[in-house]
Formats: sequence, C-alpha cells, structure tokens
Amino acid sequence: MTVEWRGKPVWIVHRTAEMIERTQGIDPSRLSDPESTVPQQPAYVSGQLRSLRPEIGVLVGICTHLGCSPTFRPEPGAADLGGDSWPGGYFCPCHGSRFDLAGRVFANVPAPINLEVPPYRFDSDEIVVIGEDEEAA
Ligand code: FES
Repeated sequence: MTVEWRGKPVWIVHRTAEMIERTQGIDPSRLSDPESTVPQQPAYVSGQLRSLRPEIGVLVGICTHLGCSPTFRPEPGAADLGGDSWPGGYFCPCHGSRFDLAGRVFANVPAPINLEVPPYRFDSDEIVVIGEDEEAA
C-alpha cells in the first residue's frame, strides 16, 4: 500500500519468503551500496533487507535520481528488466534506475543512492507508524 508522509509517498510492502530469499541472494557487486553505508535509513534499520521486520518493507517511493516515482516490479525474470538477472524490485521509468525489494540501488544506473527508508515503528502487528522512531515507542 502507499501512504503519504510529509507530502511524500511511502510504500509499505509485504515481502514473501521467496521475495526475501531472492533479495538476500543478490550478488552485492551488482549493487551500488549493498550495505547501506549512505545514511538513507534510520540507524535501527540495517542489513540487506533494510527493515525492522523482514516481511515488511517500508520505503519512500521517490527515485534518488531526479525524483520520479518508481514502479513496483516484483516479478523475477521480467523480460523487459533483464530477464533472469532481474530479482524483482522497483524500476524508475524516467531514466531507467533499478532498485531491489529493499530499495537498494543497482550499479550503473542514474540513481546514485538507495531509496530512503523513513523513520517508522510498529504500534502492533498490524499497525505501522511512519515518522516516529522505534526508540520513541
Ligand atoms: S528520476 Fe528515476 S531514473 Fe531518473
């Protein structure tokens, strides 16, 4: 689903076990910042999946190139996105940037850094609060 936070779209995506496995299996050399060293996420969000819970992805849906809104393209092997090499993720149609399902940007595309992860916390199993830090809970 897409919600709005500070005028920006925020995607909240349920990632299946298969999606998680595929994302974790991406060769890091294919990504510009596989370990998320650029501070595009709160400090409490780390690891390959860039999320508090593996099965829930939370990302600001704005391309880090020039601000277009990428398209959710979760289907692995999409012919127009490289076929077998495409693990599923987000594609920005403006200039062709690609991101995995954790919002990590692929190498050699116009976008220089990973998608932003906003501050967020879980209020319950079903409620995600965007804009408040985990520590504030
Ligand atoms: S704005 Fe997304 S690739 Fe340029």
